[in-house]
Amino acid sequence: MAKTFSFDGEAISFESGDTIAAAILRSGRKSLRRTRFHGEERSIFCGIGQCFDCIVIIDGRSNQRACLLRAEEGIQVEHQEGSGQVQ
Ligand code: FES
Repeated sequence: MAKTFSFDGEAISFESGDTIAAAILRSGRKSLRRTRFHGEERSIFCGIGQCFDCIVIIDGRSNQRACLLRAEEGIQVEHQEGSGQVQ
């Protein structure tokens, strides 16, 4: 049985060792967040934790780098809008 986590409420399959970003991109989704001022879509850029283009919300914590963190069964990942702060 495939392991999954959710991304904006949809199940994302992953394999052991996958990062969250790798699993999301493999699913066909391209965007991980929107920029704070212009709402532009962002995804992976550097892939090594330096640019912060891949930040997402994980289990309610914003600004988590999806390219560095390993996928885990049952976590809830959300597309981040702007700074990820709740208004
Ligand atoms: S893609 Fe650059 S920090 Fe994740």
